[in-house]
Amino acid sequence: MRALILAGGKGTRLRPLTVYTPKPVVPVLNRPFLTYQLDLLRKAGITDVTLSLSYQPDKIEDVLGDGSDFGVKLNFVTEPSALGTAGAVRFAIEGASEPVLVLNGDILTDLDLSTMVQAHTDRKDQITIALTRVEDPTKYGLVAMNSDGSIESFIEKPKDGTFDGSPNTINAGIYILEPSAFDLIPKGANSSFEYDVFPKALEQGLAFSGYVLDDNYWQDIGTPESYLSAHLDILSGKAGFALGDRTDSTETSPTAYIENSIIGEGCVIKPNAKIIDSVLGPGVHVEEKVVIENSVLWAHTRVSSFAKIRGSVVGKGCHVGKDAELRAGSVLGDKAMIPDYSVV
Ligand code: GTP
Repeated sequence: MRALILAGGKGTRLRPLTVYTPKPVVPVLNRPFLTYQLDLLRKAGITDVTLSLSYQPDKIEDVLGDGSDFGVKLNFVTEPSALGTAGAVRFAIEGASEPVLVLNGDILTDLDLSTMVQAHTDRKDQITIALTRVEDPTKYGLVAMNSDGSIESFIEKPKDGTFDGSPNTINAGIYILEPSAFDLIPKGANSSFEYDVFPKALEQGLAFSGYVLDDNYWQDIGTPESYLSAHLDILSGKAGFALGDRTDSTETSPTAYIENSIIGEGCVIKPNAKIIDSVLGPGVHVEEKVVIENSVLWAHTRVSSFAKIRGSVVGKGCHVGKDAELRAGSVLGDKAMIPDYSVV
């Protein structure tokens, strides 16, 4: 089976981080995000991977190259203009005669994809969609299944007060489509799986099932909050991804305190700085008595003495001034300057 990763969205919800770095290659634990998906595909024996691109395609190609560093063969297809999730698939697989496994390029999961492929094959489905359970179903569009695992309906975001909490399953952004389902997607037009293709598949009675990720970690990284959560889940061990080297070659003062954090290559950490449950990209400078907690800092950012950064995401090459404070939920785009003593 071949795979296609949808990696052409503008990633507006993750702005300002995605202004210069497209979402598919934002760093997660200092690795370009899509490399986690390439690992999953390779482990499932799927090495023929198409990346469907539209927004800043060159940056993605530059980072991932031909895929050989990640044990896969990458093929890039760039749309003339954004075609939406389903339109992009149709454009990229035109003429294909084998099934395709489609991944949204912004979900982090430890699912063994081969188990989903097996379930799809055993059931002889035309479409299988992965579903994940959420704690608060009132925030999402939901997917209801029949008792035999087939898809019953797609339900708009339920209104508070009129909903009994069931179903609690949402689209997890992983699909398998047989060639017999490709014609549901109009050629050359903008269309989406969620709003166009899946409802049409139900209407036309295609063999269409859900595959629930009950035992797997799943998180989308499409907003600053969820991007930060993915990091904290990996650092805490909730998500089962190898952390690799926690501290690359750095210049760290013996009086600095570092706990459960990843420190990128070439970072400088000055005396009495505290770094807890955080990720620092390469070349970050941390001055004396800085506190960084539950945060992600991208490469080459400088944090001046006594500054405090908590629950924040800081882009590339930022400058956080002396004794400044970034409170939980702050998100800085690349090259942002926070003046001394400011509170954000
Ligand atoms: P937002 O602007 O924040 O909603 O993000 P997004 O543009 O990435 O949209 P969304 O999160 O709905 O997209 C889900 C996945 O589909 C992401 O991996 C996107 O890269 C991808 N995607 C969305 N629209 C397109 C498109 O028109 N073309 C291609 N090739 N991929 C798309």
